[in-house]
Amino acid sequence: MSGHGPAKPMTSRKGGALKGVANVPGDKSVSHRSLIFGAMTVGETKIEGLLEGQDVLDTAKAMRAFGAEVERTGEGQWRVHGVGVGGFAEPEDVIDCGNSGTGVRLIMGAMASSPIAATFTGDASLRSRPMGRITDPISLFGARSFGRVEGRLPLTIIGAQNPGPVEYRSPVPSAQVKSAVLLAGLNAPGITTLIEAEATRDHTERMLKGFGAKVETEVTPDGRYIHLTGQPELTPIDITVPRDPSSAAFPVCAALIAEGSDVLVPNISLNPTRAGLYTTLQEMGADLTFENEREEGGEPVADLRAKFSPDMKGIEVPPERAASMIDEFPVLSVVAANATGATKMLGVKELRVKESDRIDAMARGLEDMGVTVEETEDTFTVHGMGAGGVPGGGIAEARLDHRIAMSFLVLGFSTQKPVSVDDGSPIDTSFPIFEPLMQELGASVARSNS
Ligand code: S3P
Repeated sequence: MSGHGPAKPMTSRKGGALKGVANVPGDKSVSHRSLIFGAMTVGETKIEGLLEGQDVLDTAKAMRAFGAEVERTGEGQWRVHGVGVGGFAEPEDVIDCGNSGTGVRLIMGAMASSPIAATFTGDASLRSRPMGRITDPISLFGARSFGRVEGRLPLTIIGAQNPGPVEYRSPVPSAQVKSAVLLAGLNAPGITTLIEAEATRDHTERMLKGFGAKVETEVTPDGRYIHLTGQPELTPIDITVPRDPSSAAFPVCAALIAEGSDVLVPNISLNPTRAGLYTTLQEMGADLTFENEREEGGEPVADLRAKFSPDMKGIEVPPERAASMIDEFPVLSVVAANATGATKMLGVKELRVKESDRIDAMARGLEDMGVTVEETEDTFTVHGMGAGGVPGGGIAEARLDHRIAMSFLVLGFSTQKPVSVDDGSPIDTSFPIFEPLMQELGASVARSNS
């Protein structure tokens, strides 16, 4: 869906305590990977708990276009009959990844070492995002790319005829870049090595091992070396997608700032490459408890209880934590606005190339709600106004960015006047049940004027 439907203006307001259990949907990162890796495997991969948000549905459609059979068998239940490593067919039409950077970048990597051509596009947000970070490394495998200035979409890739293995040091801390290189390496004989300066989410490594690939991570003072042995025979597995910690962040942060709240979010992954938000919130003095800590599908998980926390303090969030909470800075900014003192987020320039420039989107929206902020290219500071201290009353621009829309709607649960967003429709890309789930907890959030 490269177009965009009618805007859905939404408003939230203070409506008392949030109480109950929030069952958030499946993890977006794991959902994309389940479909893509399943499509590169011969045989049937069964998936439970797939996130049925638009981003993931666009990836399912793309995998069909590359020749895999992808079938929905029930709610969140999917089956993929893959074509094997190097088995992708050439799509007959343009691949439209909608709003999804993860979808398009992983798929570009996955097809780059096969002798086929594909043209990719997406919505206005995706067409504005940099793709050079993928086209540069895949050119080392022998793929050629023809896109707009700075590699922007629409973009055509002609996959390598005779791919060779690659050693590549990622210039940006990005799991999408890491994953694209490893996926391209799958169809190259020999060992492909991706080097990252700091740990980014490691679902690709964990899941490829689950499918039978040889992936080894070596941690050195010089960075993390991830070695993948090419041309493995991937074997199908059954996947249960864990709940998404990035979606959990919204009810958790809502509970921290809405007076009297007590919310339980079961089954949250505490994979250290994703858990930076929770460390940060605890440092701020949030009332969070992890109950029933256990391991599921090789990942540490717990049930997370969040209670209204009127005494949170601003802190400095260190740059080395940024990758482990990269999608959570917008909602952290909302919590920071309800804390006392300044919260300074360091090493966050990647936020400028997400679904929107998230520093600019949060800064302008928070200012509109009466909050003072400061920004540089790589830092963002929010001056807290204490619990319930934010005036609100503005209309934030969502800028085709689901997390910006949800963050401002969460802010509205704490503000003196209601908070509106100009368009809540992008929420469907990652958290289609956000509105009913929050309403069930007792939150006042709905389409504007309804
Ligand atoms: C993702 C990686 C992150 C994140 C995105 C999902 C993934 O992007 O922002 O929402 O599934 O690999 P970068 O890797 O570009 O930081």
